[in-house]
Amino acid sequence: MAELQEVQITEEKPLLPGQTPEVAKTHSVETPYGSVTFTVYGTPKPKRPAILTYHDVGLNYKTCFQPLFQFGDMQEIIQNFVRVHVDAPGMEEGAPVFPVGYQYPSLDQLADTIPCILQYLNFSTIIGVGVGAGAYILSRYALTGLTSSIAEMILGHLFSQEELSGNSELIQKYRNIITHAPNLENIELYWNSYNNRRDLNFERGGDITLKCPVMLVVGDQAPHEDAVVECNSKLDPTQTSFLKMADSGGQPQLTQPGKLTEAFKYFLQGMGYMASSCMTRLSRSRTASLTSAASIDGNRSRSRTLSQSSESGTLSSGPPGHTMEVSC
Ligand code: BEZ
Repeated sequence: MAELQEVQITEEKPLLPGQTPEVAKTHSVETPYGSVTFTVYGTPKPKRPAILTYHDVGLNYKTCFQPLFQFGDMQEIIQNFVRVHVDAPGMEEGAPVFPVGYQYPSLDQLADTIPCILQYLNFSTIIGVGVGAGAYILSRYALTGLTSSIAEMILGHLFSQEELSGNSELIQKYRNIITHAPNLENIELYWNSYNNRRDLNFERGGDITLKCPVMLVVGDQAPHEDAVVECNSKLDPTQTSFLKMADSGGQPQLTQPGKLTEAFKYFLQGMGYMASSCMTRLSRSRTASLTSAASIDGNRSRSRTLSQSSESGTLSSGPPGHTMEVSC
């Protein structure tokens, strides 16, 4: 019986006449989890992602990927991409042995170092190639938001996709502020803490809910609108004023300061902190109805939903059947 035999053919990277080998450049970047070394082959190609590799345990980028990336047929692929080969900390050639007791980063933390590498290189998109532990790290990175960089991830947290693609002056301004922040490393630490936050575990009627007056505001086109609506559903309705702001994205305090100011005045007034003389003229003319409605309701006996209508440019406040309008 004929036997099928596997024959391994290793083809060296053929250099065409006159072709010079690509220069590799090794860099190290400081990350919140220590220094990470990576080697870049080729030059960035406009409008093309970089290929970023992450090796498995017991290997480094060369022992893991050299046979593949130097394989003959691979050349026509990789010549179209810049390649970034990451070495996990302490795995790079010539790495010193870590001191006894050194706390090696978790795979999640290693995934969190990838944005630092991309930011350092100013690369916005990648094609990830990972083996074993490296595949886990790249998957973890992709799960936590495969966007161009920490700055882009943060922008995606602050603003809706519609706002970002509209690229208004405000978006340009905030993209510039964040991308060029001299303390971006610190911002990243805050971002990491935010992403590792615990659930507040609010429960309406349960022991864990806010007992103080709350004004909850969200833009109707905010990236986290659903989360804020859900939060409202878990708060005590007698203590909570919920304002969903029409025509507003992720940062109503930036885009709708006037409407927010007016809502805030009502909130403070509800707590007895604002004399009606401080209210704007138009607000003042409507304040009486809000105040009387609050007292009709037994002063916070029910939740108040403030909804702002885009057509009339008015704020309406109060429980169903007790709608108050205030001008913005
Ligand atoms: C590359 O061309 O990307 C490459 C070369 C040597 C080792 C690994 C990758």
